[in-house]
Amino acid sequence: MRVVESDILVVGTGIAGLTFALRVAEEHDVVLVTKKASLESNTNYAQGGLAAVTATEDSFREHVVDTLHAGAGLCHRDRVDMLVRSAPQAIGDLIDWGVEFTRRGGKLALGREGGHSHARIVHSQDRTGAAIEAALDQAVAEHPRITLLEDHMALSLRIACGAGRRRCVGAWVLDVDACEPLEVRARATMLAAGGSAALYRHTTNPAIATGDGVAAAYRAGATVANMEFIQFHPTALYPAREHAFLISEAVRGEGAVLRDEKGMSFMPRYDARADLAPRDIVARAVHSELKRSGAPHVWLDATEIPGELLEARFPNILEECRGRGIDPASERIPVVAAAHYVCGGVWTDMDGRTTVPGLYAAGECACTGVHGANRLASNSLSEAVVFAERAAVRMQQQLPDSGTAVSIEEASLADFSGFPSDAGHELRGRLKALMWQHFGIVRTADEMRQGARELVLLRDEWRAACGAALPSGSGARWVEAVELGNMLDVARLIVSCALWRTESRGLHHVTDYPYRDNENYLRDSFVIPTE
Ligand code: SIN
Repeated sequence: MRVVESDILVVGTGIAGLTFALRVAEEHDVVLVTKKASLESNTNYAQGGLAAVTATEDSFREHVVDTLHAGAGLCHRDRVDMLVRSAPQAIGDLIDWGVEFTRRGGKLALGREGGHSHARIVHSQDRTGAAIEAALDQAVAEHPRITLLEDHMALSLRIACGAGRRRCVGAWVLDVDACEPLEVRARATMLAAGGSAALYRHTTNPAIATGDGVAAAYRAGATVANMEFIQFHPTALYPAREHAFLISEAVRGEGAVLRDEKGMSFMPRYDARADLAPRDIVARAVHSELKRSGAPHVWLDATEIPGELLEARFPNILEECRGRGIDPASERIPVVAAAHYVCGGVWTDMDGRTTVPGLYAAGECACTGVHGANRLASNSLSEAVVFAERAAVRMQQQLPDSGTAVSIEEASLADFSGFPSDAGHELRGRLKALMWQHFGIVRTADEMRQGARELVLLRDEWRAACGAALPSGSGARWVEAVELGNMLDVARLIVSCALWRTESRGLHHVTDYPYRDNENYLRDSFVIPTE
């Protein structure tokens, strides 16, 4: 097997992976792997922006309060406080790396989104993620100490054992084009492998968001938390194809209004903050309106936004809508809710350390304790930069010697290159339907239990399909098999957290237990792997 050696391995090229790599590469050699092209990440699709206090009329206190409020009692206050105070500097760092944010009158222009008491979203029109990815990608490409391996998928973490302690020392990675695994030896590893919302039938995430980081970390012994809190975005363009196009919450921030099938604004009936209520409330309202009316979608009405502002602020959204024959300047936009963000993930401390020494996590695959039961809009890009930068400092203080002798736990590196593609495609579709139906916006105890039983059967079918894999095939099929295995692992974690929490809180809404139970559940839902 080919071996690659480096000081530090980074998995994932979204905002967390790229900022982390750039920081540690100031002093160390870095190998950065991504299963697709570097630009293809969840970050790239982010429209909204980064929440940060930059206006004089705003305050850290109010940003903290808004975050805690959205998080429904589960945010860790010390971490939220740190995030909020560090977010303005994170914006400055991104600007230094070449990211261009929209300005008005020489100052950063600020958007407003649900749950925020002030306009505080720093953005780049409605293509913030793409602007960030483009700038960071270029900085990474030009960096002499970063080796970027595209089309390389992390299969399994490399765990060393010695003196009763386990430590992550790199990963086994599939070179997809060559269709062969290689061993990446590293003194420490950062997992920034992105989200898991592609587990759902309708999602704003690209198909690659299959929870690879969470699954690999869990299998390597890392604690995972809060996986029941799946955030559904209330305004995905209808019809929501497999990868639904997002209509940013910032459109409501500029004055757009949700309307029912009769053209009536309905959000004021659900929450005093109406269309700018936190996302869990708006998504549930959309769900309930569709249930009541039987309509396939609700409407987002942006026609009251002045035409000039609409064109300048949302060129990407206008282009997509007009391409589909809808002109938001004069017509309502048909929208539905779609899975968007997973608030849970690999549990970390304030410096991105997981419970496995040598293994760090940041970005959507991590659970840092700042989002609680419902992420405040646009807090996640800020969180990714702030925690990645802290992790970079901490990791460099704690890097072990490269020469430390270790014995490595064997990984199971079965060759799945002949994985039967048709079966894989069919199983993936069934898993996505199962998650949508049984662990969606509104849940019932019976449906969740039924979903859990069906999941066990799907897993058996996946195992059988892997067993039937012929010994030769392609790297792409190997990726399909591993992604599906990861999705099934992540689904199991969602199920386990969702069944444990017999209350309704934030994004976890169960009709059988409609209220918060602070006595028993005012705490994170941890899943600790057993040997
Ligand atoms: C949006 O633009 O509505 C999404 C922002 C986010 O998910 O934070």
